[in-house]
Amino acid sequence: MSAEPNRLDALLSETRTFSPSEEFRANANFSDPAIYQQADANPEAYWGNQAKNLTWFKPFTQVLDWHPPYAKWFGDGTLNVTYNCVDRHRETWRKNKAAIIWEGEPGDAKVYTYEMLGHEVDKAAHMLQKLGVKKGDRVTVYLPMIPELPITLLACAKIGAIHSVVFAGFSPKSLHERIVDADSRLLITADAGWRRGQVVPLKINADQAVEDSPIEKVLVVERVGKDFSSEMVAGRDVFWHELIKESPSTPFAAAEMNAEDILFLLYTSGTTGKPKGIVHTTGGYLVGANTSMRSVFDIKDEDVYWCSADIGWVTGHTYTVYGPLSTGATVLMFEGTPDWPRRDRYWELIEKYGVTIFYTAPTSIRTFMKWGLDYPNSRDLSSLRLLGTVGEPINPEAWMWYHQHIGHEQCPIVDTWWQTETGCAMIAPLPGLIETKPGSATKAVPGVSATVVDETGTPVGEGNGGYLVITKPWPSMLRTIWGDDARYKSTYWGRFKDTYMPGDGAHLDEHGYLWILGRIDDVINVSGHRIGSMEVESALVDHSAVAEAAVIGRSHEIKGQAITAFVTVKEGIETSVELANVLKQHVVDKIGSIARPEEILFTAELPKTRSAKIMRRLLRDIAEGRVLGDTTTLADPSVIESLKLQYKDSE
Ligand code: WT7
Repeated sequence: MSAEPNRLDALLSETRTFSPSEEFRANANFSDPAIYQQADANPEAYWGNQAKNLTWFKPFTQVLDWHPPYAKWFGDGTLNVTYNCVDRHRETWRKNKAAIIWEGEPGDAKVYTYEMLGHEVDKAAHMLQKLGVKKGDRVTVYLPMIPELPITLLACAKIGAIHSVVFAGFSPKSLHERIVDADSRLLITADAGWRRGQVVPLKINADQAVEDSPIEKVLVVERVGKDFSSEMVAGRDVFWHELIKESPSTPFAAAEMNAEDILFLLYTSGTTGKPKGIVHTTGGYLVGANTSMRSVFDIKDEDVYWCSADIGWVTGHTYTVYGPLSTGATVLMFEGTPDWPRRDRYWELIEKYGVTIFYTAPTSIRTFMKWGLDYPNSRDLSSLRLLGTVGEPINPEAWMWYHQHIGHEQCPIVDTWWQTETGCAMIAPLPGLIETKPGSATKAVPGVSATVVDETGTPVGEGNGGYLVITKPWPSMLRTIWGDDARYKSTYWGRFKDTYMPGDGAHLDEHGYLWILGRIDDVINVSGHRIGSMEVESALVDHSAVAEAAVIGRSHEIKGQAITAFVTVKEGIETSVELANVLKQHVVDKIGSIARPEEILFTAELPKTRSAKIMRRLLRDIAEGRVLGDTTTLADPSVIESLKLQYKDSE
């Protein structure tokens, strides 16, 4: 287990506990502690009840059909996600309630009521239909944080088409791979996006990505203006604003979907070089998203709810789009960054819109800490009543800072552990019921069974660490990896019988609280984003100067983990700072800026076992200056000594 020793020390000495105020407790959506035992005693009854918060066209008669590792949830029920997220609210007083408050850059803002959102979604659905999109087709989406992004997702879901969103920071090559794997015929993108007052091109990337791919049509949102757009290719490319004019303004009939029909694919990194297309389905996913919005986020009609994640990641899918809209909530969506034009941008938005629930990542909190208190203190944050974090383990200092300086000691903090694969929050406090501890995601939510086991799959018991596992199926679980059932089985269910293995280490304390320690595989978590070591290694060896590369994640004060690459160059190549920079840029070009190595260390050799496997664990220890563990399997122990010396020199 490669859990960070620093984190383990910090959490073992953490004794502070925090309870919600009486007022919060009394008003919480989930206020009866018996829900935990009830759900545990009969998870299917619990999920069956939660599912009644959705509107079903045809009610399900069976909650779960489980043939490990394949689950069907609400299998004979039918529903439509967009009907649940938009149209059913149009039929109530929420018709004129704000659904999405969009704060754009530079200086744009728009509010969509549920009625207006529904109208836009219907027009978009007509447009997609006209482009030939049918139920079950895959649509790849490469858009910045503009209203057309959630509108596209909801339009796809209304038709029953499967969306596959690719974060707009990914490179043309990454986009290409995801298009090809999903076999998409349509790509939806924008001419460009705004970032810190600058224009970032998208259509140019899209043009490269669609070469030699199954894409037939590219639908382009004009976000920035014609000057920044690349050439439109006749017969292939079409502008959103031109085509949508032709859409009738009649309602678009929501497709009746089976609960198990696929809603979306979302690619995420694993331990091999090839990203995995995580498959989520209509009924189970929406039940998970909707339930956790009410239980973990305690969502109420009066709330103004803001999740700062990009919709390009699962957090944005579940907690900007599907979760909150399915409950009829008001969501804030922000196109910009926290530091532009000033470092108080987030606090300015909370003040401006009266945000009541704010959900962000530990890496952002650590950045705010570094920027200092003047920024949050210059704004009125008194509207806040609940705070959340996600994406990576939160250190107790950051938790306390968030509690004191953003929540002003009034707001419970929900540290939510989950994954692209789990669809919704799995380990998190229900804020009216659970006492929190800084740095612990606390306990599994009702209906989810999480525990910590040792190498043999035996529960470790309180006071011990091991592998985090989920022992029962849950509605929003991934159903498979797109086109790769074998990988689905081996990655998640191959280690322990009928048990889901997320790939995280965890410690169970003496009160039964879970402390997530981080990944135990070759996945690196940089600022809450998952990057596979192998992906970065492949990008590096793709460069003509590189012979071999080994990539690891080391602890980083702000990002949680940073990427360190150990590189051997080919005969006759001179190593230099310039070459290191070239290689860093090469990785950015190949994958995207999130994969940029923090440092590149040139070395004559890489430490390998006698069976020629690169010993990443040793490299991690070197990069973190730790005492080295067992090196007896190393083919040439002197490699380590020279690497250690070099790493010191490079610091
Ligand atoms: C991995 C999943 C779904 C959230 C966004 C990231 C780590 C996530 C926490 C947390 C400790 C966390 C895990 C997990 N992680 N949330 N609250 N505490 N670690 O989704 O890209 O699928 O990554 O993020 O290591 O396995 P993702």
